[in-house]
Amino acid sequence: MQELAGKHIVLGLSGGIACYKAAELCRALVKQGATVQVVMTEAAEHFITATTLQALSGRPVFTSQWDGRSASGVDNAMPHINLSREADAVVVAPASADFMAKLLHGRADDLLSLLCLARPIDRVPLILAPAMNREMWAHPATQRNVAQLKADGAHVLDVGQGDQACGETGDGRMLEPEELLGDLIAFFQPKVLAGQRLLITAGPTFEAIDPVRGITNRSSGKMGFAIAQAAREAGAEVTLVAGPVALATPRGVRRVDVMSAEQMLQAVWADVGQATVLVATAAVADWRPAQAADQKIKKDGSGVVPALAFVENPDILATVAASERARSGELYCVGFAAESHDLLAHAQAKRVRKGVPLLVGNIGPETFGRDDNALLLIDEQGSVELPRASKLALARQLVGAIASRLVAR
Ligand code: CTP
Repeated sequence: MQELAGKHIVLGLSGGIACYKAAELCRALVKQGATVQVVMTEAAEHFITATTLQALSGRPVFTSQWDGRSASGVDNAMPHINLSREADAVVVAPASADFMAKLLHGRADDLLSLLCLARPIDRVPLILAPAMNREMWAHPATQRNVAQLKADGAHVLDVGQGDQACGETGDGRMLEPEELLGDLIAFFQPKVLAGQRLLITAGPTFEAIDPVRGITNRSSGKMGFAIAQAAREAGAEVTLVAGPVALATPRGVRRVDVMSAEQMLQAVWADVGQATVLVATAAVADWRPAQAADQKIKKDGSGVVPALAFVENPDILATVAASERARSGELYCVGFAAESHDLLAHAQAKRVRKGVPLLVGNIGPETFGRDDNALLLIDEQGSVELPRASKLALARQLVGAIASRLVAR
């Protein structure tokens, strides 16, 4: 799936050592299907050559407002107009302290700042990826400029934290190319969940037998993590309560790691009071060993196998769905059903049993561990199939389906 197919990005580079990351960003944007028109300031050319960026973007690079070459197929010697008119976004990465100060004042004495000023402000967003030394970033002048640029409608991305080229350590690094790519993809997603707070459970739980053994299941957590990412991209604040999984936390998502069903319930209770939507994708163990041994259970050579007694775990979704906030409609609950057969019938019954307005059915053996899935959405009105696709594509569709149900309430 090319995430930026059909998008035209003007990628501006101002002067800073982070220009080397802009080359990788350019490549990543092209790989995701975007056309990329690079514009560089004179300062940027001290750090990286236009030849590199021409090779990576497959287009001539523009560096001067006096460049009379045909720009976007127009020969009027006005690259600042022509280049900005066809853009879906102008992305300045790196955006140096000096370049942001310049933008703030509406100065326009080089092609990139001129183009930013000349862009149709209502239609062509300006996205800035700041990059500078930590003292420069922390300086009141820079912070004042960032605040004013935001007030003027620019989207100022976060800065990274860590070792800097100057040898110091702190805030101000430009985000890594893959982080920037993720933020740009997110930028173009419709903000259908703006103002919502989502609480998502994901992954398996692990129920201890003793300190080294336990019972778990094959859930990978991928669907829940994809929903967390899609919800964040759609503008929601997201808390992800995750069982033991080896997945990276989606950007901008708050993650709480848990092991057992009881810990997952506690983590959910701690957060659910502020949530407006609960999406329970976790494959919670239905039972846990009645007693977890404090020490490893040893083979004693007698050949007698230990007998395990089980007790039932709390049903997290059903418990929350029965709460006052859920019943009054302040909290919208979405359940999942992992079935092996008769999906529609089982999922319909489960929706009623769990007391949730929306239940998402899937076939367990056909989804666990995979990157794709197929979903069946079941609500009071009936059922809708979301055909097999990547989990992220399905998560975005599900986010849209949740958003439209929130509006329709
Ligand atoms: N769920 C939960 N807590 C549990 C069990 C399930 O919150 N202890 C949630 C899951 O996260 C999912 C939904 O309930 O959203 C259904 O989970 P599933 O395992 O399919 O159903 P069960 O209730 O366990 O029913 P069964 O195993 O009989 O199919």
